[in-house]
Formats: sequence, structure tokens, C-alpha cells
Amino acid sequence: KNIAIVMGGYSSEFGISIKSGNVVYKYLNRTAYVPYRIVITKDKWIYLDEQDKEFPVDKSDFSIFLGQEKIYFDCVFNAIHGTPGEDGLLQAYLELLGIPQTSCNHYEAALTFNKRDLLSTLKPYGVRCATSYYVNKGQSIDTKAIVEKVGLPCFVKANRAGSSYGISKVYQSEDLEKAIDHAFSEDDQVIIESYLDGTEVSVGVITYQNEVKVLPITEIVSENDFFDFEAKYLGKSQEITPARISKVQESNVTALAEFIYRTLGLKGYSRSEFIFMGDDPYLLEVNTTPGLTEESILPQQAQAAGINLEQLFASAIEEAIQ
Ligand code: DAL
Ligand code: MG
Repeated sequence: KNIAIVMGGYSSEFGISIKSGNVVYKYLNRTAYVPYRIVITKDKWIYLDEQDKEFPVDKSDFSIFLGQEKIYFDCVFNAIHGTPGEDGLLQAYLELLGIPQTSCNHYEAALTFNKRDLLSTLKPYGVRCATSYYVNKGQSIDTKAIVEKVGLPCFVKANRAGSSYGISKVYQSEDLEKAIDHAFSEDDQVIIESYLDGTEVSVGVITYQNEVKVLPITEIVSENDFFDFEAKYLGKSQEITPARISKVQESNVTALAEFIYRTLGLKGYSRSEFIFMGDDPYLLEVNTTPGLTEESILPQQAQAAGINLEQLFASAIEEAIQ
């Protein structure tokens, strides 16, 4: 079967996605699937062959021309972080064309990628989250009201972004506006959240062999002030799997992560981030196209569960095309 691994995307996470996509390509090449690397940018959609030679993608049916031959795809492996792969755009396009893809469906992706709407949806189910305040571009910023609501320090985040782009930890009210401006460089919507001072964990939930499976939990210990871009990708953190948490914490967060996956109607991969306040996990966010490099958390968790990367990537395709 022909598999299009889509990578790149329109956001700051372009480079991370290319890394994820190339890892998926490497491992799928060792399976019976025939993987093709498709790079999607704002300007062009291209197929890259072994020699990195570029061929255009026909957007009308998501096929490629290789000389005289037209290649169609049986499935799309979605390795795009951020828009258009994680926010439902690509999913909607592929759903219209009737091409299966490995991540969740378009509405679930759009909802999940929007931190504001995700948390607002889950709170009435009893999911705990930080206290938050939302601001859109162009609205006046009432620093006093923000600090009264969320306290200090607080986190300022771009509402729809990943890999910590646009995030700042703010200690003094004077620094709030600058942090909000910085977050606006990634998105027109900003969320400001109270600081939760507790152990941070990352929980992978995937569908594997037709069953929803919670992977071994990873504890995040950042050398930086928080789990920022440098901590995530430049080695300034320790990611400890299994997490050094109590049995009660483990069972609480396992149940909650699975509850969230089922409640949102996710499929494929997901990786949710939580912070413990005592035994209670507080939800930060859910990633539906998590990083897939060999160093990324979800592949580490899969390996800790005895699933190698060929099995992890091939199973996503099996789930999508069945
Ligand atoms: N957004 C990054 C790629 C992640 O969640 O792993
Ligand atoms: Mg994220």
C-alpha cells in the first residue's frame, strides 16, 4: 500500500515536523508499506524522492505524477504539528477526498488544538485545569484584572500553537503586556493561566490493535524555568519513563487521560500534559499529532511498553485504513 507521510506545515513547528516525518519514513521503509515523503508548505505541496528531487502534488485528488505514472495513496500518515495537520484543516480535506489518515478527525483535531475550547469543553466533565483568562488580538488588556484572576507567576500562551512557541512565564505585572505581544506572534488568541507548582507528566494514549492503550507515563524535569523550546529540543530537560509518581497519582492520571481520549472521540495517537496538585492531575493540553522523532516522548513511551517504532507507525496505518 502507498502511504503519504505528510510533514512540514505552515507554523513555527515546521522543522520539528520534518524531523518527525523523516523518522516515520525511515521506519515505514522497513515494513511492507511503501512510504512517500510529502512536504506541505504555504507555497507548495511536493513529493520528495530519495534524492530529494521535488515533484508537485495534485491537490485536486492528492496524487503525484512520477513521469508517466500517477500515484494515489491508500493512507496519509499525518506527521504535521500545528496548522494544517493538527488543527483539522488537512483532516477535513482528506475526509472530503475519502482518503484515510492516521490522526483524529477534523472536528476533534480543531477542538483539541484550541487550548481555550478544549479546556472549556472538558471542565464541565470535572476535568481540573489552571485558572485562566483569555485575550484576543485588538482587545484591551486589563493587566490588573488578569493578575487578580490568575495570580503571579502565570503562564502566557498562544492559544493554538505547539512546541512552546509563544509561551512565557511571567513573574511581574509589568512584564505581562510584552509576554502577551510575544504570544500574539504565534496566534491571534492568547490564554493566560495560573502557575501550577507540581510534578509535570506527559501521558500517551493511542489506539493499538483495536484497543485504546495508555502508554507508560513520562515525568518531565526541566532544567530551565519551565518546559520551554530549549528544554524540549535542546536537551535542557530530563524525561523520565516511568514517572516517579505514587500509585494513586498513576491510576488517577491514567484514568483521566483515557477518559479525555474517549470523551473527545480521539483516534490514532495523542499525548496529554498534566501537572499534579497533590494526587489530582490538572490538564494543560492534548496533542493529537505529537512529536515522533526517536527522542520524542511518545516514541519513548511506546518503546517502554514493548512496542517498537515500526510497530507503532505501522499500527497507526492499520487503524486508519480498516
Ligand atoms: N507539538 C509537539 C511536536 C509535541 O507535542 O510533541
Ligand atoms: Mg503542545
